[in-house]
Amino acid sequence: MARHAARALRASVAGLVLASGACKATTLDERTCPPAGTTLTYEAFGAPFLAQHCQRCHGAAPSDREGAPSSFDFGTHADVHRHKDRIFVRSAADNTTMPPGPDDPTPEERERLAEWLSCGAP
Ligand code: HEC
Repeated sequence: MARHAARALRASVAGLVLASGACKATTLDERTCPPAGTTLTYEAFGAPFLAQHCQRCHGAAPSDREGAPSSFDFGTHADVHRHKDRIFVRSAADNTTMPPGPDDPTPEERERLAEWLSCGAP
């Protein structure tokens, strides 16, 4: 419980720092889809990425969310489209405030997430 609280606190601090603009995040608008498009799809990339790295908190019951806001679930393709700007700003490319650790996606995975989202998360 204490560990969860500490992690939630760390995550909130990261969110606040980000919101205050103290640390400049790359946004989805700043990223363009490669000219050749993307081969990444929701089924082959997006869903498994979010399941592995996000849904442990974001898709859990209220008691197991470790502070993840109830309005932010990423369990469906529609959820991803609805939240794509925020998913990008917290987790894609050089943005690393989500997940709050310790099992972070690799930089390559964050790059793939950026490419997929910038192409409209097909
Ligand atoms: C260990 C639990 C945990 C995991 C795993 C996790 N989150 Fe979060 N998430 C939180 C908590 C706690 C908050 C609220 C505090 C904050 O915003 O930093 C939050 C808030 C958010 C928000 C809403 C606030 C905003 O900035 O719009 C988004 C979006 C988000 N997380 C994206 C993600 C993504 C994408 C992943 C996976 C790559 C992820 N999170 C993985 C705990 C988690």
